[in-house]
Amino acid sequence: MKWVQPDPKRENWYWPTEAMKARAWVSDPKIYEEAAADPVAFWAKRAEEIVWFQKWSETYVDEPYAYKWFVGGKLNLSYNSIDRHVEAGKGDKVALIWEPEPPDEPNRILTYKDLLVEVSRLANALKRLGIKKGDRVGIYLPMIPEAVIAMQACVRIGAVHTVVFSAFSAESLRDRLVDSGARLLITADGYYRRGKLIDLKPQADQALTGTKVEKVIVVRRTGHPVPMDPKRDLWYHELVSGEKDYCPAEPLDSEDLAFILYTSGTTGKPKGVMHTTGGYAVQVYTTAKWDFNLHEDDVHFCTADVGWITGHSYLNYGPLMNGVATVVYEGSPDYPDFGRMWQIIEKHKVTVYYTAPTAIRMHVKWGDEWPKKYDLSTLRVLGTVGEPINEEAWLWYFKLIGGERCPIIDTWWQTETGATCVQALPGIGPFIPTVAGRPFPGIRAKIVDAGGTPVNVGEGGYLVIEPPFPPALTRGLYGDPEKFKATYFGEFGPRLYFTKDGARMDEMGNIRITGRVDDVMNVAGHRLATAEVEDALSQHPLVSEVAVVSRPDDIKGEVPVAFVLLKAGAQPSEDLKKELIKTVDKYIGPTARPAEIYFVEDVPKTRSGKIMRRILKALVRGEPVGDITTLRNPECVEELKRLVGYKG
Ligand code: WT7
Repeated sequence: MKWVQPDPKRENWYWPTEAMKARAWVSDPKIYEEAAADPVAFWAKRAEEIVWFQKWSETYVDEPYAYKWFVGGKLNLSYNSIDRHVEAGKGDKVALIWEPEPPDEPNRILTYKDLLVEVSRLANALKRLGIKKGDRVGIYLPMIPEAVIAMQACVRIGAVHTVVFSAFSAESLRDRLVDSGARLLITADGYYRRGKLIDLKPQADQALTGTKVEKVIVVRRTGHPVPMDPKRDLWYHELVSGEKDYCPAEPLDSEDLAFILYTSGTTGKPKGVMHTTGGYAVQVYTTAKWDFNLHEDDVHFCTADVGWITGHSYLNYGPLMNGVATVVYEGSPDYPDFGRMWQIIEKHKVTVYYTAPTAIRMHVKWGDEWPKKYDLSTLRVLGTVGEPINEEAWLWYFKLIGGERCPIIDTWWQTETGATCVQALPGIGPFIPTVAGRPFPGIRAKIVDAGGTPVNVGEGGYLVIEPPFPPALTRGLYGDPEKFKATYFGEFGPRLYFTKDGARMDEMGNIRITGRVDDVMNVAGHRLATAEVEDALSQHPLVSEVAVVSRPDDIKGEVPVAFVLLKAGAQPSEDLKKELIKTVDKYIGPTARPAEIYFVEDVPKTRSGKIMRRILKALVRGEPVGDITTLRNPECVEELKRLVGYKG
């Protein structure tokens, strides 16, 4: 079935076909005007589609820095993800399809009924261990069904989960456990990645010193022996085996904290982004439904890890609240060969595929023969997220994967927004390479200059969001209300949320995102502050000073490049570079490894001693360095030009 057709006048523009419009939840562009006329009423209507134990009394409270949605309403995210479908007689529908990395290992398939049992047992166990509403629970799990089950079990009883990406180091995990004050950690013995067995438990153990964690629940995934502390550690399967199959979902206030997810800001320390229950549920439910046009027969495959917001919203809560089957893949896209993702799509008859531009660019490099081996005709909608997509990757995805039949929904959003905010809708269009689309109905996004004044059509500026703020927008940074105000409302005040992205808009209102305007990088879809990498590198005893900037990369989008000043007496060497890489692995994880490390005598500084990263960035990108006369040490720029092979 063809879901899109080309625009007769504009090259590479596509529009939905009648078939797509007929299937789409929304196909009339009037929805944008209707929602814009009264966004609060729009969201109230959306909220009526999920289940509330008690209806809200006030839809939106417009208070500076303390906006709230569906105040007085009571609901539960897990009830909306699972129970409502079981109660509607759909308990035997498939909820979760787990694809382990080893290709010969069987799938685990959970129906909504099965999921209710699994989630209930763990929720009951958590309660028995003394976990109460509001308590923080760390989750450090690979991509196994228990990751979804653990998140669902937490929100079911009102505990606040904080999921940490399993490829993050022990140090990163510790920071997050300390900051959130987690009392319990759920982890696993290990997992499989690129055919290798990887132990996770020893890393979790290392992270626990200095935290408030009292108990550790360990999922047996690999069966490989790992250290267990008999006083502290509990095997998941033993723990839940005696628990009851049903745990009622706790009625939570709409503004009760649902979870904390740490993300990179511009400093060395990640921030705990808080999401509350009602607004998050409503926007995630609605955007999952409208962006991907989810119907009950859909098989939704989101490739993001549960450690990222995409995994939270569009692998777990969004698809499940919509009653579809969600695919969870444990491993790497290139194992056992480059065709794995396409093989999974064929095997499970996937209809919606949601991935990152970085992944698409990798597939482009691996060659067309891999997707061509598989039957991808079940696909209806393709999505991308995480970074701007280049035209080449977009067209490849559109042609090779979508067979020129499927719309590409390029969704712009952030950990902070919790749910997608800017995208084209499959029944409305248009679908244009490198252009995300219009702000979702009911969301007021615009592009302004440094003074907060809207720029003209086609001009570059800053992407901001106006009140009423989107229901899922973060309510704050855990433990740091001042930082919340300064970070997002410091530039333009409390009535303009600043996304930190540059963008431009066409006359139709379609937005093209041009990238971050702060010191945040997007490395293979992973958000990372240059300051975090600097922080990690400066832990090495021979490092005196370090500056990290990003450089574009064909596959990963951006990669970090480090300029390192060594302490007196230390000698630069290839071995030292390797040690520095290890230091980054230790303090952050391999995703943050610099692509290049330059040992330098000096880096450009202002008279007040601030490192001018702007100049380093221009040097590694071959861009004009601009005026350097105000530097304290302009002479070092020539030396750096030679070192990096500058051809600007
Ligand atoms: C930053 C947020 C949202 C889940 C994954 C990333 C960039 C995100 C797009 C897109 C261009 C995008 C922005 C944003 N970004 N989606 N479709 N087109 N850029 O979440 O780690 O919080 O990063 O990712 O720069 O600010 P995140």
